[in-house]
Amino acid sequence: MDSKALEDAYVLPTYEKFPFALERGEGCWVWDEAGNKYLDLYGGHAVAAIGHSPAEVTAAIAAQSAKLLFYSNLVYLKARAEAARALVEFCGEKGSQVFFCNSGAEANENAMRIARSVTGKAKIVCAEGGFHGRTAAAIAATGAKYRKNLSGLGGDITHVPFGDLAAAETALKDDAAAFLLEPIQSVQGCTTASGEYLRGLAALCEKNNSLLIFDEVQTGLGRVGAPSARHAFDARPHMQTFAKALASGVPAGAVLCAPEVSAKVKPGALGSTFGGGPLASAAISATLKVIVEKNLAENAAEMEELIRATFKFPSSRRSAAKAFCSASCSTGPRSRRGTRS
Ligand SMILES: Cc1ncc(COP(=O)(O)O)c(C=O)c1O
Repeated sequence: MDSKALEDAYVLPTYEKFPFALERGEGCWVWDEAGNKYLDLYGGHAVAAIGHSPAEVTAAIAAQSAKLLFYSNLVYLKARAEAARALVEFCGEKGSQVFFCNSGAEANENAMRIARSVTGKAKIVCAEGGFHGRTAAAIAATGAKYRKNLSGLGGDITHVPFGDLAAAETALKDDAAAFLLEPIQSVQGCTTASGEYLRGLAALCEKNNSLLIFDEVQTGLGRVGAPSARHAFDARPHMQTFAKALASGVPAGAVLCAPEVSAKVKPGALGSTFGGGPLASAAISATLKVIVEKNLAENAAEMEELIRATFKFPSSRRSAAKAFCSASCSTGPRSRRGTRS
């Protein structure tokens, strides 16, 4: 059986896939099993921000796995401590602290949980059109398109129109623990908030004793031409969530808490067996080092200018997939609907 037949036989068919099997990657290139080479503008779902299989990260993983592959959060680990320091220093707010988990959805779940326990309130306000993950509270916080036909989602989560400060003010006044927002809504078509909106939300949250959470799973780690959207828009949230590129492909998520939030989190409040494990931690430190040393945030800003000036953008994801496949595949794509992770 070839890889496609094997996977179709044994893996639940939750994704519509492109019709080829990838074998290896290097930098921004990937190769399929037939030896065809592709320029990966998709970045493995925004994970390969510093390229595929970066030598700095694979070396760090190899060294760490030979020393100690895993130990839990019940002991101190230098690798975890260094990864947390690297993320705090990268984001540049002294006194912030990190909770490590394994994915973007988990990071958002935990951020909402922290907000509820710190404020003693239950309600979470989100913007329509956002995407926050597939676990219970994260999907409840996500836009309507992804909640369709799902029952039993976490309660106490309401949505207001993206960019509408008046609606946010009304929703927050009604006893909200937090406002959770993607500063740039990725699946919505890269809908970008204004700095004024984000700073307005920060002020409203302060006024209502609510916490502002930026979901930076897509916008973090240098991709917006600054360390994160928080820096690009000069708006201070109480928490930021990260995942995707954080460990270059080793599963990892993180919640970065401002000092006034982290001071209120107590032992037993949160937990994760694998979060902050040595392997992911080594990959996080190595990834952040590359982003800093190679000035990749600056590079992203330069590339944005070049890409905007050079490319014509397809009007929809479907036409983008079609264009991709007609350029690079012998057979066209199957429907790409419902493929968002
Ligand atoms: C903005 C945003 N938040 C959260 C998630 C969920 O991340 P994960 O798939 O790692 O759970 C995603 C995934 O695409 C995302 O784009």
